[in-house]
Amino acid sequence: MTTLLALCGSLRAASLHRELLGAAQDLAPAGVSLRIASDLGALPLFNPDLEAELPAAVRRLHAEVAAAEALVIASPEYAHGVTGTIKNALDWLVGFEPFVGRRVAIWKASPRARHADAALRETLRTMAAEIVEPACLSLPLLGARLDAAGIRAAPAMADPIRAALRALAQGPAPAAAPGWLLRPAQAGDATRLAALALQVWLSTYAWEGVSEDIAAYVLARFTPAAFAELLADAQRLLLVGEGPGGLLGYAQLRRGAPQGGLEVELETLYVQAPAQGTGLAQALLAQARLAAYRQLGAPAIWLSVNARNERALNFYRRAGCIECGETWFELGGGRHLNLLLRSPNMSRTEGEER
Ligand SMILES: Cc1cc2nc3c(=O)[nH]c(=O)nc-3n(C[C@H](O)[C@H](O)[C@H](O)COP(=O)(O)O)c2cc1C
Repeated sequence: MTTLLALCGSLRAASLHRELLGAAQDLAPAGVSLRIASDLGALPLFNPDLEAELPAAVRRLHAEVAAAEALVIASPEYAHGVTGTIKNALDWLVGFEPFVGRRVAIWKASPRARHADAALRETLRTMAAEIVEPACLSLPLLGARLDAAGIRAAPAMADPIRAALRALAQGPAPAAAPGWLLRPAQAGDATRLAALALQVWLSTYAWEGVSEDIAAYVLARFTPAAFAELLADAQRLLLVGEGPGGLLGYAQLRRGAPQGGLEVELETLYVQAPAQGTGLAQALLAQARLAAYRQLGAPAIWLSVNARNERALNFYRRAGCIECGETWFELGGGRHLNLLLRSPNMSRTEGEER
């Protein structure tokens, strides 16, 4: 059974969005159940101070989200924005890791509500949810005078609802087996790591050509001897992704340079261009977070990313990382803005030995 969870953005007893969700519960195809989240009106207004000891209504919402394969958000527009009910519920889900990557469909009972739709999309993208376009609905229910039974009986409403539920329940296509394996780096990897790091660094940052400063920097930093030292350093931990032809990427953790209360830094996560988009970067990040938790005792890690590296920033945002400050990288008299990010906290179940 695929369980979908609906968040209704209207608290009105006669809410059109609530009727829409009621109709959808009856229209769900075999093997799919749509549950409507318990009273979102009972959630306290979001306050980070309350996160230390979550209120019961928040714990209920978290449990419902964790138990669902995908979410439907059905909400009216209030004054060109999302309703406070939905924004508040989403604020309680920002730091809740199971929400990251969750498939979400946006449903609205009025095609006029463009502003709330745009704002909701922006929020969901920031929270690293996956918006499932074929499952999004915009139905002309405002003024149609239909309750749940009426919606169910009208093919112009019922057919798109069924199709949306099917699209949301279907899930993404299963991933093919990866062409790489992850393992801890060994002393014998130093030469290959140096070459890999040099290649990835230049292709990422030498946008405008290889200057004297850049050449001097990379040739001094990415050497077999420097990597041999990193591999022998008790404060550091390196993981590699290896394919049949050699190393494809690596992640490097460092303890002892705390930032914002976090002890462990993800100093480097480099993946060769041909291995980008294969899931290797996600796997290295996940494994690095696990290693930070299990071997270095850090439930969350911090990292810095060049502010112009949109690809990397989007990657970390999709993984649930949030911005927490800025820093500068200096090279040859030039200063480059870097953004500081922190990962979500590792939950106890995720961190358990498998
Ligand atoms: C306070 C308030 C503000 C509203 N603002 C907008 C708006 O900006 N744009 C819009 O299209 N509809 C707006 N509406 C109309 C609602 O979207 C419409 O009444 C909808 O049916 C409410 O959803 P519900 O029936 O599920 O409660 C507003 C309604 C209220 C009560």
